[in-house]
Amino acid sequence: MKGIILAGGSGTRLYPLTRVTSKQLLPVYDKPMIYYPLSVLMLGGIKDILLISTPQDLPNFQSLLGDGSWLGINIAYAAQPRPEGIAQAFVIGRSFIGCDRVCLILGDNLFYGHNLPGILNSAFNSPAGGVVFGYRVIEPRRYGVVGFDSEGRVIDIEEKPAHPKSSFAVAGLYVYSSKVVDIAGRLSPSARGELEITDVNLAYLKANDLKVELLGRGFAWLDMGTHESMQQAASYVQTIQKRQGFKIACIEEIAYRLGYISSRELKALASDMQNNDYGAYLNEVSTFRRSELDL
Ligand code: TTP
Repeated sequence: MKGIILAGGSGTRLYPLTRVTSKQLLPVYDKPMIYYPLSVLMLGGIKDILLISTPQDLPNFQSLLGDGSWLGINIAYAAQPRPEGIAQAFVIGRSFIGCDRVCLILGDNLFYGHNLPGILNSAFNSPAGGVVFGYRVIEPRRYGVVGFDSEGRVIDIEEKPAHPKSSFAVAGLYVYSSKVVDIAGRLSPSARGELEITDVNLAYLKANDLKVELLGRGFAWLDMGTHESMQQAASYVQTIQKRQGFKIACIEEIAYRLGYISSRELKALASDMQNNDYGAYLNEVSTFRRSELDL
């Protein structure tokens, strides 16, 4: 299983914050935004990850995350010169994907909830060529929207419809067979000039090979693309972390929990953060047995 994080885009809704830096490097409470999608791929057990961003932002992601070996994973990088659509990730990632299944996550999406690793694993092992996730939102218009028939079967997905047929948006986490590379390669740009992920989903749907998993109300899916939603995500993270004492999307902890790094290596990662809560947390976690860390 391969993983792709799409972390380019223009970030215009976050101007002036994103005039000189990437949206996905901005802080969301106590960590850079990119930690949140990266943690999801790691929790799914994915070790080979391609991070796609703009040519100007890639060097910063590389300084932050390196080749991933400090987390026991492999991170490769590729440029998307212009934001020409989410589905372009599969054109750019063609040789990285090869003959494997692939999970794409958007760099500004946060997923958090019970049994996330289990949900991911069923999607990875699903017989369906494509698995996407539907989530109830108040404003489905901003997303791809799932249409159901009277028996609850998925019959349609529409991109940013003026009159949504349901309240279920397609979340920014997608699992596909390696065929996605050819499907994306055959797409033409939409009216707004993008290779649309909704067209990829429609191709799988037409072939009767798409599963739409609904994420329940106990699950959090947030996107962090506007000032308000970024602030809301930060408050959510702060609130849960303060209450439980466990951090959300702490990639160093996840690497330790999964056995990719030792307790000594985790302590070493904390060493230049001795004066803050993040370093103290890594030190604390390094004393736990792996089985005590409930993810
Ligand atoms: P969007 O939020 O749709 O777009 P954006 O990030 O360019 O922001 P804005 O609308 O404020 O200008 O993108 C969703 C995610 O996908 C985000 O993490 C950026 C990423 N993305 C790319 O990396 N390349 C692309 O071509 C597109 C369309 C999105």
